[in-house]
Amino acid sequence: MQMDYNEHFDVPENIIYLNTPGNGLMPKSHHIWRQHRDAAFFAPSGMLREQQGEFITEVKKDIAELFHCSTDRTFCVPNFSFGFNTLIEGFSADTSFALISEDYPSLNYPIISRGFPHFYIEANENLEENIFNAVTENKPNVLLLSIVQYITGLKVNLDFIKKLKVAFPDLIIIGDATQFLGTEPFDFDNSGFDAVGTSGYKWMMAGFGNGFLMISKDLASKIYEDAQSRPRPQEGMWAKKSILDTYFEPGHQDTLSHGTLQQSIRFLKGIGLENIQQHIHRLSMLAYDELTSRDLILPFIKTKEIKSSLINIQIPQDFYPALLADGLKCFPRGTGIRIGIHLYNNEIDIEKLIQLIDKHTWNSK
Ligand SMILES: Cc1ncc(COP(=O)(O)O)c(C=O)c1O
Repeated sequence: MQMDYNEHFDVPENIIYLNTPGNGLMPKSHHIWRQHRDAAFFAPSGMLREQQGEFITEVKKDIAELFHCSTDRTFCVPNFSFGFNTLIEGFSADTSFALISEDYPSLNYPIISRGFPHFYIEANENLEENIFNAVTENKPNVLLLSIVQYITGLKVNLDFIKKLKVAFPDLIIIGDATQFLGTEPFDFDNSGFDAVGTSGYKWMMAGFGNGFLMISKDLASKIYEDAQSRPRPQEGMWAKKSILDTYFEPGHQDTLSHGTLQQSIRFLKGIGLENIQQHIHRLSMLAYDELTSRDLILPFIKTKEIKSSLINIQIPQDFYPALLADGLKCFPRGTGIRIGIHLYNNEIDIEKLIQLIDKHTWNSK
């Protein structure tokens, strides 16, 4: 029997929600948890406001367990970009970066604006080969890339990243997993990546204001090197903070938001990331078959064996208002209209998507 997970979500009948690459939906149970949590947190008689540090530590334990990192190398941050900016502030000014052309601006621009030496690698069907050749020839200190590209959905082969790390053990590999984590199992400590970060509001289904960053043992010992050789904070209230904590988690965090992320971690664990992967894969293949037969897939994505569930449909962006009016939540990006297929979607959504595309293509003739 095919599982249908949309019973966990409140999606109105007239909405086809395919805008997860923009922002994802939250399960019904999250909304209930948030109402209770907010009331209990601000109740004058309550103690939750006094337990914020302990609460965040528990969130990090759950993240670290699901994605195989250790709690002291997992950091709660308000979003991917804040975490990433803090990470690169910890590198010396002469660190050289290999970037992917047209990657998400939050990755590339902070490198450009800080004046780090950098060069670009082209993102096409030969992404992995391009990376290997560029690393061999130019010997950058850091490779920086999104695991799934936000415009095209191009997904890097994760086995390749492991092999790359074996071939170049000194290369620091940083991955943006904002369009990836929440869609399949991920074992950070055996991934080859030195750092992986994400925002929580897309595929993690955790709403805004939360994200996290996982850092390898090796990289954790290399960043903020000077600061790490100086004394740890002496004040009692910071007694448990590591030097890296003082950079990545310098102040009070919103426990409602990070608690929502914890609810997501438990929700994903409850269903099982393998099951989620299978569900997404089955629906995505259905969509790819239909879209390929209409020649609506980017050529370099069509030929790639590994495909993500973020799809850029090659229809005119002029269709966007009409698709929205028909209840299809999607977004114009690059040379087409971007959709994403997640846990709350089912076959009916894919059928409706294809019907709408056919209708609007026909109407535009
Ligand atoms: C690849 C990628 N990284 C990061 C983000 C979002 O980063 P932030 O939540 O820090 O704005 C997005 C959002 O579209 C994205 O596609």
